[in-house]
Amino acid sequence: MTKRVMSRYERTTVGGEEVAAFLPFPLPPADPELALAPALAERLGAAEQALTRLELAGEMVPSLDWFIYAFVRKEAVLSSQIEGTQATLVDLLTFEAEESAPPNADVEEVCNYLDALTYARDQISDPKGLPLSMRLLNETHQRLMREVRGAEKLPGEVRRSQNWIGGTRPGNAVYVPPPPHALAEALSAFEKYMDAGDNSLPPLVRAGLLHVQFETIHPYLDGNGRIGRLLVTLLLEHWKLLAKPLLYLSLFFKRHRDDYYRRLSAVRVDGNWEAWTDFFLDGVATIADEAVVSARELFAIVAADRARVIQNDTTSVAAIRLFELLPRHPLVSVASAMKLTGTSKPTAARAIDALAAAGVLVETTGKKRDRWYSYREYLERLRVGTDLDVQRRSTR
Ligand SMILES: Nc1ncnc2c1ncn2[C@@H]1O[C@H](COP(=O)(O)OP(=O)(O)O)[C@@H](O)[C@H]1O
Ligand SMILES: [Mg+2]
Repeated sequence: MTKRVMSRYERTTVGGEEVAAFLPFPLPPADPELALAPALAERLGAAEQALTRLELAGEMVPSLDWFIYAFVRKEAVLSSQIEGTQATLVDLLTFEAEESAPPNADVEEVCNYLDALTYARDQISDPKGLPLSMRLLNETHQRLMREVRGAEKLPGEVRRSQNWIGGTRPGNAVYVPPPPHALAEALSAFEKYMDAGDNSLPPLVRAGLLHVQFETIHPYLDGNGRIGRLLVTLLLEHWKLLAKPLLYLSLFFKRHRDDYYRRLSAVRVDGNWEAWTDFFLDGVATIADEAVVSARELFAIVAADRARVIQNDTTSVAAIRLFELLPRHPLVSVASAMKLTGTSKPTAARAIDALAAAGVLVETTGKKRDRWYSYREYLERLRVGTDLDVQRRSTR
């Protein structure tokens, strides 16, 4: 394993306690440089090939927008779950279908993530929008933190106080990030690296390095993990590593959360960028291949159901129209179906009944009134990995 000295430490006093805060060296890794030796080069090749397969799958699947719509929601839920947000994909979709106020802070947090991601993505694809920069990340952070759990988190602003990761106080923390006075310099070097196009390393590898560096700097009081993961998504898009935004890594980070944290720490402690890069590229390859399978299966579900719905000659035009909207709106009620299809109440109710009779929609409330129906098979497939299961085993 390559050992590198990664930083200077600075003694700093927090709450009367003296601790060593970490001042990372700017990217790229040096002394020695990050060498893509055989094993890593192989990982990189596998990741790039998986991205090509995902790219091809994206071209072959009609209605690609559905998948982007669904994958983005899944990412918002998973990235929030990594640090303990207790909201599921179904919670998010229910909230969106009901068009009500968010039922609790956890769902609000996920909605904010979605809003923040959409905002950032719009900015970087708009020639007049903000470029991918700290300013853009701050604006994105502001949206992420909006009204959730207290404005004391300084939405949109780099922190002005010392923070720490793990532990109850800096003195027993797993990690003490740079002191606030060092942030301007660290972030300006970070931004420069993001911008400059370091040709010595492939962009996929650089995206991974930038994620680590962001977590190491920990520029905000909260939301660093989520903004750092969102950054990966934005970099893939900005650097055109994929024509369509179909790759979202939080599922991998959630599945291997302990490893994820361990490898972030190992970069800092041992300068082990190699182990991180190996992990990150494995994530890209794994998730890209899973996305291909998932898109294929979701598409197969819709195609089979469509054939069944259309074959049935009692199916109305409204029912077919409603069916085509289900991938984007997998939870519907009579009221929401009226709105979606622009029909009267009896027509919408009949459309729902027809789709329920065809086994496409399943009633979920068990009530006589205010009933909701779900496109169950589709949702079951989509939500794989998003249940609240493995977390809350705090390792930090
Ligand atoms: N040992 C570590 N070293 C560096 N970064 C870490 C470590 N452990 C966790 N992290 C990062 O810190 C994030 C948590 O920081 P936080 O500001 O609370 O973000 P969020 O609120 O978005 O979860 C984790 O998601 C992870 O990305
Ligand atoms: Mg947090």
